[in-house]
Amino acid sequence: MTDLSPLDADGVSAAVDDALAAFAAATTLDDLKEARLAHTGDKAPVSLANRQIGALEPADKAAAGKNMGMARGRLNKALEARQAELEAERDASVLVEEAVDVTLPVNRAMTGARHPLESLQERMCDTFVAMGWEVAEGPEMEAEWFNFDALNFDPDHPAREMQDTFFIDPPEAGIVLRTHTSPVQVRAALERRDALVNDGRGIYVVCPGKTFRTDALDATHTPVFHQIEGLAVDKGLTMAHLKGTLDAFARSLFGPDAVTRLRPNFFPFTEPSAEMDLRCFVCQGEDTACRTCSGTGWIEWGGCGMTHPNVLIAAGIDPEQYTAFAFGMGVERTLMFRHGVTDMRDMVEGDVRFSQQFGMEV
Ligand code: DAH
Repeated sequence: MTDLSPLDADGVSAAVDDALAAFAAATTLDDLKEARLAHTGDKAPVSLANRQIGALEPADKAAAGKNMGMARGRLNKALEARQAELEAERDASVLVEEAVDVTLPVNRAMTGARHPLESLQERMCDTFVAMGWEVAEGPEMEAEWFNFDALNFDPDHPAREMQDTFFIDPPEAGIVLRTHTSPVQVRAALERRDALVNDGRGIYVVCPGKTFRTDALDATHTPVFHQIEGLAVDKGLTMAHLKGTLDAFARSLFGPDAVTRLRPNFFPFTEPSAEMDLRCFVCQGEDTACRTCSGTGWIEWGGCGMTHPNVLIAAGIDPEQYTAFAFGMGVERTLMFRHGVTDMRDMVEGDVRFSQQFGMEV
C-alpha cells in the first residue's frame, strides 16, 4: 500500500471516515484509546500523510495544510465527543454498580450495658452529691463490732439472729459478711469525727454497697443484695431535717410530686425509729387494684430515724452536743418497684438482655 498523500483530499477524508467509524464502534474507554492510537498515533495513515507536507513543493503546501488541518479537526472533534459519551456511560454505571443499600440489615456488634443496679445506685448517690454530701464506702467483710455492737445491738439481741448472718470461719474471730450498710455509718463518723469537733464540719455521707444475708434466692430474696445508707451528724439536726432530706431524695427519683411518710418502728441504732413509705407514684393512692402498691397507696421503701446516742458515743461523738439522723433502703427493692421488675432472679442471673432493656441509664 502506498502512502497516503496530504494532497489526496478524498483519500485523507476516507482515512478520517475509517477513524470515525472505529471511534464510534468503541464501547469502552479502553477500546477508544486503542482506536485513537491506531488512527492518530505516529504510524496512522493520517499522521504519515501529515509528515510529508514538509517535503512538498511550496505551491502545494497550502492545499495540503488545509486538507490535513480539516482532517485533524474532524478527528479531534469526534474523539472528544466519543470520549465524553463513554465517560458519562462509565460514571452512570459506577453509580449503579457501587450503590449501597443502606436499608440492608448489618451484623451489629452487640455492646454491653451497665447493670441497672449499678446505675441506679449511682443515680441515688448523685442526688446526695448534688446536695453536698459525700459518698463513703466500707468493707463487705466486716467486724461484728461495726455490724452489730457499735450499732447498739445487745450481744443477745434477737436482731442478731433475725438478720441471719453469714459468719466467716472461725466464728469466734467475729468477722461477718455485713448484713446491712449501717456499719459504714460508724466508720464514716469515726473518720470525720475530728473535722466535726475541731472545725465544725458536719458529717453528711451516703454509703452504697453490697450486703449479705443467708436467704435462699427466690423471686423476692437474694443472699447478696445492695443497700444505700445515709448519715448526717451536725449541731441541731432534727427529725424535720430527716423528713426533708427523704422527700428531696424521693422527688429526685420519682418526680416533683413524690411524698414520703414515716411510721413508728424499732431499730437498735435509731431512737425514735421509723419505717419510710413512698406515696405510690403510679396511682397516687387512687387505684385499689394498683400492682405497684398492691392497692395500699404506699410503697415501703426503707428504715430511718434519729441516730441513737450510743452509736454516736461508739464513734467518739458527744450526743449532748451533736444530733444525727440516718436512713437505709434496698437498691434491688427500689429497682423492682421503680421499673416493674417482678423477679429478683433477673437481676442476678447475668443475662445481658436484662441490662440492655435499661440501656445506659435508669
Ligand atoms: N439497716 C437497716 C436494715 O438493714 C435499715 C436501716 C434502718 C438503716 C434505719 C438506717 C436506719 O440507717 O436509720 O434493715
